Amino acid sequence: MSEPVLQMRNIVKSFYGNNVLDNVTFDLQKGHVHAIVGGNGAGKSTLMKILTGVYVKDSGEIRVDGKIVDFSGYAMATAAGIRMIFQELSVVPTLTVVENIYLNHEERKGFFNDDRRMREDAKKLLDRLGIDVAVNEKIANLSVGYCQLIEIAKALSEKVKILVMDEPTASLSDTEVKRLFDIVRTLKSEGVSIVYISHRMNEILEIADEVTVLRDGKHVITEDAKNLTIAGIINYMLGDAERNAFEYHERPKIRNPGVMIDVNGLCVENLVRDVSFHVNEGEIVGLAGLMGSGRTEILESLFGIRKIHKGQIVIQGKPVEIKNTQTAIHTGIALVPENRRREGLVLRHSLKDNLLLALFNQVKKNMVIDSHKIRKISEESIRDFNIKTNSIDTLISNLSGGNQQKVVIAKWLKNNPKLLLLDEPTAGIDIGAKGEIIKIIEDYAGRGNSVIVVSSEISELVAMCDRIVVLVNGRKTKELTRNEIKNEGVIQHAIQG
Ligand SMILES: Nc1ncnc2c1ncn2[C@@H]1O[C@H](COP(=O)(O)OP(=O)(O)O)[C@@H](O)[C@H]1O
Ligand SMILES: [Mg+2]
Repeated sequence: MSEPVLQMRNIVKSFYGNNVLDNVTFDLQKGHVHAIVGGNGAGKSTLMKILTGVYVKDSGEIRVDGKIVDFSGYAMATAAGIRMIFQELSVVPTLTVVENIYLNHEERKGFFNDDRRMREDAKKLLDRLGIDVAVNEKIANLSVGYCQLIEIAKALSEKVKILVMDEPTASLSDTEVKRLFDIVRTLKSEGVSIVYISHRMNEILEIADEVTVLRDGKHVITEDAKNLTIAGIINYMLGDAERNAFEYHERPKIRNPGVMIDVNGLCVENLVRDVSFHVNEGEIVGLAGLMGSGRTEILESLFGIRKIHKGQIVIQGKPVEIKNTQTAIHTGIALVPENRRREGLVLRHSLKDNLLLALFNQVKKNMVIDSHKIRKISEESIRDFNIKTNSIDTLISNLSGGNQQKVVIAKWLKNNPKLLLLDEPTAGIDIGAKGEIIKIIEDYAGRGNSVIVVSSEISELVAMCDRIVVLVNGRKTKELTRNEIKNEGVIQHAIQG
């Protein structure tokens, strides 16, 4: 084989003393598609952000075309022909397609932007990639899938040697995925080398030449895709059972539990199709699935954020129509959203004020806020949830991620909901806080309340759930009982469809 276009050797990276990449080595052959797989937090994105100068490595060596490189920023990597399509979309909704594609590298005619040329070039680019959208369309009017394709077009608007795609298909429909694969094949034939990060094994086996598996920041194996199977890859992804940080704890049985919620034939746009399941009092039920499988949409519809197009919701025997968030809250439902920074907390406010936002009804007395009561509730929360903070007046932005998440959960539990919806409750927080949050959730269910939890961290589902509903492409494909939830492998297999 010829010299790899990219060689990453013994890459080491820690965040705040937490070792995220441990001596990882990764080679990319010219014109190949090399997939990187691994569980959540395995270090995939971090490895590629180090390549593209977004993060600085602690040690190790990177060579492009045999020459040592050290990009001190993304712009430097771009200039060298290396581009990354980030998991977090970076298109600007208020701008048009063409404005986004040429943002920060406008084509010029003398002192002015050459708008006509940019429009023409953008059109050519979109045609070449088979993306049918008007160049003057506002991004805000496009589906997430299209935004993703525009993001790719933007990456390809300048010469690219190495293209990194970080979970590019997470929000694409089947046809958009086909489109993307056509693009990938075209790029390959043009000699572009591609790193492809994904959780979808069948896609990987279809598009990749090689597969590298990372686990907890360590390189596990690199192998030709043709020698691998889905089961084989999953096996490499899983750690030894005894290293799983959390185990399932049998909870005391609730006596004669009733059905807390019965969801019947739920449809949400074309994202959730005819999904039925129920959750008993005192039960924790997990929704497992890949991104885009409809997990989050189910939670959002039950909380009144998304319109339910069809289906019936029965709560403790009573049919309810969840029209909006107010009805949901009134019915005793609470949602801890995935993106707590955006939706769960006001970071500029203090811990106390954040609790106040949710507890308004409990603490207002003749339309005045009972400051004594809010203080008491805040102090209770700090104690009950073991929130590490100097005082209740500390700004939320000064708390660690784990403690912020405890505040969000505290905020909702203080309202005494009977059904708690959790979306990725421990994403991005440290292992200690994870364990504490799992414990808080188990205790809450132990008091006869019910929980529906969505998590990409399969180990977390294994630890918490009494039952797991498996979703593939918006449909329920399986329901796993506690006896069937033996290990992560069972679930990893099930969610692949
Ligand atoms: N900017 C950051 N600050 C602190 N920790 C981070 C940062 N980025 C990633 N991490 C941590 O590094 C680990 C690996 O993350 P990541 O590379 O995003 O994993 P993957 O992409 O495989 O899911 C995780 O534990 C994550 O929390
Ligand atoms: Mg990632």
